[in-house]
Amino acid sequence: MNIAVFASGRGSNLMAILNAIKEGKLNAKVSVVISNNSNAGALTIAKENGIDALHISRKQFSSDEDYVKKILSELRARNVELIVLAGYMKKIPPEIIREYPNKILNIHPALLPAFGGLGMYGMNVHKAVIDYGVKITGVTVHIVDEEYDHGPIVMQKAIEVKDDDTPETLAERVLKIEHEIYPEAIKLFVEGKVIVSGRKVMIKNED
Ligand code: GRF
Repeated sequence: MNIAVFASGRGSNLMAILNAIKEGKLNAKVSVVISNNSNAGALTIAKENGIDALHISRKQFSSDEDYVKKILSELRARNVELIVLAGYMKKIPPEIIREYPNKILNIHPALLPAFGGLGMYGMNVHKAVIDYGVKITGVTVHIVDEEYDHGPIVMQKAIEVKDDDTPETLAERVLKIEHEIYPEAIKLFVEGKVIVSGRKVMIKNED
């Protein structure tokens, strides 16, 4: 299955996905990496791995329509069947969501629906978790719909917040979990094991 990864930043989740593919844990191909940020580490990682690395930003186009057309044409040209957001900071236009129903995934560094939505990204999430005083946090992989951090939940993993955690120490432990579960969640989609019914995501049994 051809996958597109959309990323705005350093790209450690992209790296984890590529490692899972190299290790034979995930039977898929990252055909293209798209970033709104020309300096994204994710684009460098893509190039180093011989993957098409595209800088596509709304600013390069005179209309939303041309912008969406460009993204869709790059995806279609590579027969992309699944879009994986890995630290992508832009909203996915509705036309793309319609073209890829239940086929766009996102990872969020907290247990949604808590600590999600507008402005809840990067270190802001971990700061908010510590300030609120919750005892557990974690990682959520969900399907992307038209609202930030809102679509049906595919996978979650919880970890403990320790008394002496700082946003930085927490971010580090959460990121490790992200790298473990994102390839696992993607695998379920690649293997056609995911059934989505409204907000419920069910995983088909092995037999
Ligand atoms: C991760 O924490 C992810 O959950 C969030 O953005 C961060 C991306 O990190 N959506 P990286 O670019 O994959 O290293």
